[in-house]
Parts: sequence; structure tokens; C-alpha cells
Amino acid sequence: MLTAGPTYEQIDPVRFIGNFSSGKMGFSIAEELANQGAQVVLISGPTSLQIENSNIKRIDVISAQEMYVAAQEQFPSCDGGIMTAAVADFTPLHIDKKKVKRGKENYSVELTPTKDIAASLGKLKRENQFLVGFALETNDEELNAKGKLEKKNLDFIVLNSLNDKGAGFQHNTNKITIFSKYGECKKFALKSKAEVAVDIVNELIAYYEE
Ligand code: CTP
Repeated sequence: MLTAGPTYEQIDPVRFIGNFSSGKMGFSIAEELANQGAQVVLISGPTSLQIENSNIKRIDVISAQEMYVAAQEQFPSCDGGIMTAAVADFTPLHIDKKKVKRGKENYSVELTPTKDIAASLGKLKRENQFLVGFALETNDEELNAKGKLEKKNLDFIVLNSLNDKGAGFQHNTNKITIFSKYGECKKFALKSKAEVAVDIVNELIAYYEE
């Protein structure tokens, strides 16, 4: 099971809080897994990307809460989860029923935390299931990634840094480092997201064979 893309958190009938995630990394991994024979469930936030392999079952969601519900439903019947989605950490406490009008002196939207999907699956995870997280960082990359690995009970975490040219949101390329729960660290060169997907799937296979 994969999560991919951004989430949109609605403010009023025409506006939302979102992020720059394109979904490309998650969709590439889904295609690579399916090409290697896996049955894939892809829970996707709003994106214009299309799936190609018919072994991918796509579930479209919009908000972090919808993604959480879909992930909770799907994960127990899957071999594992790969969490590539850029999930909003906060969502508006109230959605305005009418379009918010201009002309106010100040305007603020009160936000409340969303659920951490990866951490919730980390708690649900059985012995024979794996869980992979992603970390997109701008500073203290290694420390933050390792912290998330432990806190969310992941088997490994894929780090990409916004400081690396060509890595992260909207690019067709990515540069990753994988940290495992066993303390291993593997750095990869800048590659296309399709090639990075192959590296990640190969790491998964190696993990299973251990
Ligand atoms: N994640 C998730 N649900 C959330 C937030 C994050 O499943 N509500 C997952 C992401 O898909 C990713 C991992 O957790 O695999 C790390 O996400 P990231 O945004 O880097 O970390 P956060 O826990 O949100 O921490 P922060 O934003 O404070 O760095």
C-alpha cells in the first residue's frame, strides 16, 4: 500500500491549504512494484498523474483525514506500507460555508493538527508487515530522518533534502539516502524518480530476503 501526493485542507467552498507535492515519487514506486508483480493499493491525494499498470488499485482522497481513513482500512490486508504522501500537519478547525470575502483588516484561519498516518500504521503494524516513510528536510536532515524512523516505528526511511539540487517536490529527479531501523545508511546518486523507485523496491526486496 502506498500513500502519495499532497492533501488539500479546505478553508471555504473555493479555497484550500495545500503543498507542492506532485505525487511523482509515489506513483513511480507504485508502477515499479506493479511491474515486478505486486498488487498495489495506491491512496492518492489530488494530482493530475495517471496510473499505467492495471495491478494498481487507485483510491483518490482529498484531505489528510480521508487519507487516514483509507490507509487504516487498506493497511491490515497489505504486506506493508510506503508513505510518500506530503500530508498536511494542520487543517482548518472550521470550514467557512460561504466564500470568504475581501475587505477585512486581518484574517486568520485557526488550524488544528491532523492525524499522523505513518505513526498510526506503525502502531498497527504486524511482525510480517513493513513500513517505509519519507522525510523531506531543509535542515538537520539526518537527525530529523532518524527521529522519524524511530517515532513512527518504520523499518526504513527515505531521506531527501531540499538542499540537494534536483531533489524533492516537482522535480523529475531525486537524490535519496535510506536509513534502516538496524542503523544501516545507504546513499544514492541523483537519478530520475523512476530509477529511484527501482532502488527503493530493490531495498525492500533485500529487506524481505534478510
Ligand atoms: N506522514 C503521515 N501523516 C502525517 C504526516 C506525515 O503519514 N500527518 C508521513 C509522511 O508520508 C512521511 C513521514 O510521515 O512518510 C514523514 O513526514 P514529514 O512531513 O517529513 O514529517 P512529520 O511527521 O510531518 O514532521 P515535520 O513536518 O514536523 O517535519
